[in-house]
Formats: sequence, structure tokens, C-alpha cells
Amino acid sequence: MNRKKIVAGNWKMNKLYSEAVELVDEITIALKDDEKADGIVKILIPSFPYLRKVARHSHGIKNMFTGAQNCAHEEGGAFTGEVSAAMIKSLGVSHVIIGHSERRSYFHETNEDLKKKVNIVLGQSLTPIFCVGESEEKRHAKEHFAVIEKQITDSLFHLPATEFAKVVLAYEPVWAIGTGLTATSHQAQEMHLFIRTLIEKKYGKETANMISILYGGSCNAKNATELFACPDVDGGLIGGASLVAKDFITIIHSFPQ
Ligand code: 13P
Repeated sequence: MNRKKIVAGNWKMNKLYSEAVELVDEITIALKDDEKADGIVKILIPSFPYLRKVARHSHGIKNMFTGAQNCAHEEGGAFTGEVSAAMIKSLGVSHVIIGHSERRSYFHETNEDLKKKVNIVLGQSLTPIFCVGESEEKRHAKEHFAVIEKQITDSLFHLPATEFAKVVLAYEPVWAIGTGLTATSHQAQEMHLFIRTLIEKKYGKETANMISILYGGSCNAKNATELFACPDVDGGLIGGASLVAKDFITIIHSFPQ
């Protein structure tokens, strides 16, 4: 399977500027002559004010990209405090997280809002990293597959196959984010396969086999090897562990050889 293997570090609202510069320096120095990591797509996703700096520092490292954590749901204009996809692109950034559960819950972003953002991001030729995930309550009620299906169908399945093929998906069970409670490799594989099958039904096998599906939720230097060994887990969207250069590098090295 020649799907892209991806490790993305979502720094969330962490690090002061000097600390962010230190972190990107540590990571890029470690990756400079790291041939083992060359084939892995690496994405650093800092806060908006640091994007330009991180993009510049990452420049020259093979398969290394910069992503934003969010973008505005409109293309531009009178939206005080918002940052447009076009602005993000103008900084040398290539990826944008859309639909992180923290945005869905704290900022009340709906599937309909996220559909708009997906269109805007793709319209700028940026790559959306589209997050889906169920709450603990929905998993206990055994409604987790239905939740994920609705999130994907409502926000992504309007896209033509050529556009859909540009999306990276991330499965992040809400109960696993920042809790230290990781999905088991069985739970992750089961959901990733469900997502891939859903894509296959809509867009066909070829597209389904091309889409990278990342796992996120307490993925760290210790458990990444087991998670990345699952056939439908194509990498990770890492929160806490991406703030420590050594751990982030270990995670990048955690794919089966
Ligand atoms: P943690 O790795 O800190 O659980 O966060 C995962 C996440 O939300 C990445 O987007």
C-alpha cells in the first residue's frame, strides 16, 4: 500500500514564541540527516502567530510541512479576529486542521460550518486534515460508527472524487484526547476500516485506498508502534507528545519497517 504515512503535531494553544522556535529548531536539527524519516510526511501545526516562522524553519527538510489549527468559515472581509485560508496560504503553509473536537465542542462548529471550511481550504489548494471522533457517551451507547458516518457524510461527501482525494482524515475519539486513555489498536483499526469502507462505498476502492487516515488521542512515543502497525492506521495526529522534540521524533520512527 503506497498511502502517505503522516505524523502531524498539533501544538494547540501551547508554547510562547521563543519556546516554539526552540521546538521547531530541535525537531528540524534532528530530522536534517535522518534518512529513516525522509519518506514520512511530517507536519508541524503551531498557533497562527508562529506559522511563518515554523514554515521557514521547516524549509529544506524532506517531506516536512506546516499546518494551521483552524481557519475562517468565510473567504475574507469584516470578520474581526478571524484568519482566512488565503492568509494562511500566503505564509507558506500547506495544511489546515478542520473539525477538531475542541473546535466542535468549545466553539460550537457544526458539520455544516465544517463543510464550508473544507470548501474554502480546498479552494486555496490547501490540504484539509479533517477530524472526526465520538464522545465517551456515544461510544457507550454503541453509536460511535453512526456519529463518524454522519460527520464524514455531512461535511465531505458533497465533494467530487478528485477533491475528496486531497483530504487527510484523522480519527480522534474525544474520550482519548488529552486523557492518557488511548484507543486500543483493535478499536483504532476497527474504526479506520469502517471509515475506509464508507469511502469505498461512496468513491470506490481506488480513492479509499489512497486516503491517509490518522489516529489521534493520547498517541505517544510508547504506543505509536502498536497503533501504526494497524493496516488502516496511516499515522498520527499528535497533541501533547508533539511538544517534546524527542518524543515527536520517536513517533516518526514508529512505522513498521
Ligand atoms: P493528545 O495527543 O494530547 O491526546 O491530543 C490529540 C489531539 O487532539 C491532536 O489533535
